[in-house]
Amino acid sequence: MKLFLSKKSFLYTSALLVYSHLLGEIQNSGENTDSEYAQKSYLTFDLKPMGSMDRPLILRTFVPTLSVSTNSVLSNHSTGSTSPKYSPSSGKESTKEYQPIDGIPAAIAVNLGKHLSYVWDTTECRLLYAWTDGFFDMKNYWGDRLSGRRKGFGYVPRLFGFVFYKALGKHPLSINGKSISGLGAPRYTGYSLGTDRLPVYEYKAGKHNISLKIQPGPSTQTLRLEFSTPEKESLQFSSPNTQVETISSTPGKLSIVIRPNAGESFSSDEKKEIIKEPTQQIGEKLYTSLGCIACHSLDGGKNHGPTLKGSFGSKREFLKASSLAVDESYIRESIEHPMAKTVKGYLTGMMPPYKLQQAEYDSLILFIKSVR
Ligand code: HEC
Repeated sequence: MKLFLSKKSFLYTSALLVYSHLLGEIQNSGENTDSEYAQKSYLTFDLKPMGSMDRPLILRTFVPTLSVSTNSVLSNHSTGSTSPKYSPSSGKESTKEYQPIDGIPAAIAVNLGKHLSYVWDTTECRLLYAWTDGFFDMKNYWGDRLSGRRKGFGYVPRLFGFVFYKALGKHPLSINGKSISGLGAPRYTGYSLGTDRLPVYEYKAGKHNISLKIQPGPSTQTLRLEFSTPEKESLQFSSPNTQVETISSTPGKLSIVIRPNAGESFSSDEKKEIIKEPTQQIGEKLYTSLGCIACHSLDGGKNHGPTLKGSFGSKREFLKASSLAVDESYIRESIEHPMAKTVKGYLTGMMPPYKLQQAEYDSLILFIKSVR
């Protein structure tokens, strides 16, 4: 993290981030000055700030919805209405209208370094999405360092990295067999920090007090969620099309691991890098960077998914669809719409769908063909 200690840099206050979780420490220490914040490294002018496992970056911020708005995920958010545009020079309202900004206004975004970022929403009181290989480009929201102004409209930070999890359906938590989504809007009460500095979110649903700790799971692109309630109720987690593994479940405590259910990458550059020519080498890189490696071996070994060794041209049998020989269009379909066919002996919905560029699909196909 780059920090700027000179007096001059304090002019650029719009691009200034205070590490909110550490602020408590200095506020408690009595008097504080700008330079004290800076000396303790609580400020940054970096528009793409990153945290680490030792020093999580916790930001209260507007975030993009990433289209999780469908499917009753945001059932407690009200929908904004359009508003007329106002011209300060003429003093009149114009006939043009602003559309509501497509963003989530009261989220907490956390970055633990390259391997995990996630957004927890304080309105729905739930995890909304998680990604690797990046965090947010804050320029739209904090403003450019030189101009000092944020974007006039649509000032939502831009997510970059690889999104592997998105919330689906109603609130996933049930208490004593009843979904908490039936208890009215949950109420967020705040977060505390454990000794490991990871936030633990607290909220109320009906008369229940719930706390949730979110941390990286046992392997890449997995998350570990630990729910607890002081009343020792029985807790369950269920979410459509998401693989959930229960690690432990005792009265008042539930610990689970969730596996990827999405696959969408966002470039850190303003413009997405377009691949002109698909190649086997690009495919091989994607196999690792998109996380296919976590479920598909190259040496014939069985994992969560079938091995890619010798798959091209070989015969497949499915749970429902009629059998076929593996060809390009089947591979493409398997990556883009894995739910379309389920290979016999494997779980439906285990593989996340991947939204990629045409040349990325083609590169993966070239690579899979080459694994003999
Ligand atoms: C979380 C585990 C998981 C991840 C990650 C994953 N897959 Fe899969 N994949 C599966 C499972 C399970 C199946 C078999 C069930 C099915 O057909 O949906 C499968 C099936 C496939 C098939 C059909 C295989 C065959 O032999 O018939 C292809 C091709 C494939 N995946 C490619 C990919 C690629 C490329 C990626 C990365 C971009 C990827 N998968 C990521 C679990 C995963």
